[in-house]
Amino acid sequence: DFSWTLPDHPKLPKGKPVAVVVLDGWGEADADQYNCIHVAETPTMDSLKKGAPEKWKLVKAHGTAVGLPSDDDMGNSEVGHNALGAGRIFAQGAKLVDTALASGKIFEGEGFKYIKESFDQGTLHLIGLLSDGGVHSRLDQLQLLLNGASANGAKKIRVHILTDGRDVLDGTSVGFVETLENDLSQLCAKGIDACIASGGGRMYVTMDRYENDWDVVKRGWDAQVLGEAPHKFQNAVEAVKTLRSETKANDQYLPPFVIVDDSDKAVGPILDGDAVVTFNFRADRMVMIAKALEYEDFDKFDRVRVPKIRYAGMLQYDGELKLPSHYLVSPPEIERTSGEYLVKNGIRTFACRQFGHVTFFWNGNRSGYFDETKEEYVEIPSDSGITFNVKPKMKALEIAEKARDAILSGKFDQVRVNLPNGDMVGHTGDIEATVVACKAADEAVKMILDAIEQVGGIYLVTADHGNAEDMVKRNKSGQPQLDKKGEIQILTSHTLQPVPVAIGGPGLHSGVRFRNDVQTPGLANVAATVMNLHGFEAPADYEPTLIEVVDK
Ligand code: 3PG
Ligand code: CO
Repeated sequence: DFSWTLPDHPKLPKGKPVAVVVLDGWGEADADQYNCIHVAETPTMDSLKKGAPEKWKLVKAHGTAVGLPSDDDMGNSEVGHNALGAGRIFAQGAKLVDTALASGKIFEGEGFKYIKESFDQGTLHLIGLLSDGGVHSRLDQLQLLLNGASANGAKKIRVHILTDGRDVLDGTSVGFVETLENDLSQLCAKGIDACIASGGGRMYVTMDRYENDWDVVKRGWDAQVLGEAPHKFQNAVEAVKTLRSETKANDQYLPPFVIVDDSDKAVGPILDGDAVVTFNFRADRMVMIAKALEYEDFDKFDRVRVPKIRYAGMLQYDGELKLPSHYLVSPPEIERTSGEYLVKNGIRTFACRQFGHVTFFWNGNRSGYFDETKEEYVEIPSDSGITFNVKPKMKALEIAEKARDAILSGKFDQVRVNLPNGDMVGHTGDIEATVVACKAADEAVKMILDAIEQVGGIYLVTADHGNAEDMVKRNKSGQPQLDKKGEIQILTSHTLQPVPVAIGGPGLHSGVRFRNDVQTPGLANVAATVMNLHGFEAPADYEPTLIEVVDK
């Protein structure tokens, strides 16, 4: 019989405020000049590490430990926070799409049948991130989708690409576009009218998140739907090469372009009767474009022309909003998350976010509250219009102050924050700025731990995946890999490194220590741990807690 009531922990008391701090992009790696966490002054995190092995340990934050297809897959914020919050490992979007494509079931599902009805008269548009990063999308999935769609009757296909350079090395966009061009010309040889229609860099076009900057989505809309962009080319490879060299933009920030024919006409605007698929499986950076494509009432920007289309997401991106209403693959059903349990067991929760990681992802990709009377989510808006290396401290101080005030207010049992610096600045590839970012995150942790000290509380500090601890591409023996010019290649992406978990605070029962008998501990073990710190036992199907209580 199912019950939301959590059993009391046999040894741990209730009523101690717990701070849960998630450092974004903060893994553990050998110390060298490319390890920005090592280079930065981080006295707070350094002192936590001295608590090993009883109060500090490393856990797995990538690959199968967070529901990704293989251990070659680096972790990311979505799967990391999903695991942290849900306490179990769910097969994630990347894996579910792989399975649906491998079995061909994707082409028999409701979503595909729905868009297929447009194939006779209309064009099929595919919009998404073009890389093999595996965080938001994957090239091989796009390839299978292209083949499957054409085998199932799509006669005219237009691909609207977003270049990456964030989950993969900068500069790799050219190669991905060449590969895609080649695939599309093979479809053309089979009599299908298929080509790239528009493009732009993921951070500048379409893939904004958490409603940070609607202009990003508008630039995408203009190129993809209206067929209008400041740059016009007849060929996508040429577009990417030229824009990279002439505007000095990197892959992430490439300006929008459209592909035009001999008479300068866009080859692939989205028109009445067309079908559209956003082929990213990951949710956060697709929610905004999904709203623009799907909602009748929409006032975030002037869409100018709203085509009557059949639109499907690769996945449903928001379970609460049921957005979009059509999708090719069902998302993981992440239910009974720790946040929901704790709220139902009376835990008053405060979450502060610069991005929705400790709310939306933490709660299993749900955007709302479970119980408004017990939860408060505060949003600190990001600096917009700049890359984060310009202001590497970001809003770490503001987030820490909010957390501190929430802790001192006595109104909350759990105060949960994400400190984005290591990740967001790490993604820029700017090593000096990333060092500053790590220091800022460390200072923010200190402010939160000081507040916990004052109220006699408990803290758990962890991270969602690695990034800032390794900023260079390495060869198999771990040495920086040099490119053709003999230069190191900056790693803008996440890593495969483990992340720390540290516990402590005056409220922590003196007998608590990390167990050493948990098989391959990972992020999913954190939820049960946090429940214990609140004085509860975790549900039986949760991954085991990381802690035990010894008599002292
Ligand atoms: C992004 O969306 O910024 C990157 O692809 C992944 O970073 P995140 O998983 O840390 O958000
Ligand atoms: Co990241």
